[in-house]
Amino acid sequence: MIRSVVRGFGAALPKRVMTNKEMETKVDTSDEWIVQRTGIHQRYIAGEGETTASLGESAARAALARADLTPDDLDLIIVATSTPDNTFPATAVNIQNRLGMRHGAAFDMQAVCSGFVYAVATADAYIRGGLAKRALVIGAETFSRILDWSDRTTCVLFGDGAGAIILEAQEGSGTNADRGVLTAQLRSDGIHGDKLYVDGGPSTTGTVGHLRMEGREVFKHAVGMITDVIEAAFKATGTTADDVDWLVPHQANRRIIDGSAKKLGIPLDKVVVTVDVHGNTSAASIPLALDTAAADGRIKKGDLVMLEAMGGGFTWGSVLIRW
Ligand code: UT7
Repeated sequence: MIRSVVRGFGAALPKRVMTNKEMETKVDTSDEWIVQRTGIHQRYIAGEGETTASLGESAARAALARADLTPDDLDLIIVATSTPDNTFPATAVNIQNRLGMRHGAAFDMQAVCSGFVYAVATADAYIRGGLAKRALVIGAETFSRILDWSDRTTCVLFGDGAGAIILEAQEGSGTNADRGVLTAQLRSDGIHGDKLYVDGGPSTTGTVGHLRMEGREVFKHAVGMITDVIEAAFKATGTTADDVDWLVPHQANRRIIDGSAKKLGIPLDKVVVTVDVHGNTSAASIPLALDTAAADGRIKKGDLVMLEAMGGGFTWGSVLIRW
């Protein structure tokens, strides 16, 4: 049985850090409120010349270097983003060009904060279906550019960044002992579209628009949706919370992360948390957290790693990977 095995990982952040103290000079907020309600202490904000494609390219180069591969070794690029450099061509094609890659296929995937989970699930399906041998999967965002900087209920929450992994087709036995993606569980429900959205687009306003969110409404659904897809992953693989070495959640809010882990019976020392330093980077948050915990030696080869996300759409999903 073909498995999609992680060969490399990488990440990139903008140069500029914006602390909660600096945020206090922009809107009527406080470090205390932001930390208490979200766990966020700082976020990175893209500056001139830093875009979703440039950050994605840097993350991709880091992942390629770690995997000891070159762009010639890839045949698929999927970029999860809701903040593309241009409406088209896709940011994935832009990154393909920046990498000097003239073969294979590249496209973007738009599932907002669940984008990376959707992109990994898609790359895994391509690989297991024989359509690709090595896929570069990137989550890259510059949410700072779609924020309403006068709206304190949203602008304090988000940040910019990118992360990437390389998935490679390898022969497995078909058991949970295999390295690679063991299952992916994806869900969406458009009835919640107006709870987290951007109020513009090419076909409506002809503008990019700004992010709008009913935070409390999103919060209300988050823990239930997250635990739903994680339990579905356990059921699909016959695993339990005790088998999980690392939970790597979408980094939206420390309270949602802690609440989900508690409900699932996963101890907090097995949860990777980076929301304190990255803020909510939407589709980039999981690969940024993966890079942090794999680079510092917490996530090791053979570990069972659960990814989960929930966001605009609503979309939500989980991926269980043996690292
Ligand atoms: O990544 C996609 C998924 N997104 C999420 O998961 C976000 C989910 N939602 C959340 O994380 C939380 O709902 C928030 C962090 C957005 C807000 O936390 P909350 O505990 O739900 O606060 P709230 O919206 O109930 O607001 C409480 C109070 C309000 O004042 P009143 O009405 O009680 O007087 C707000 O106006 O806090 C006020 N407030 C602020 N105060 C200082 C809202 N934003 C701020 C702010 N600084 N930045």
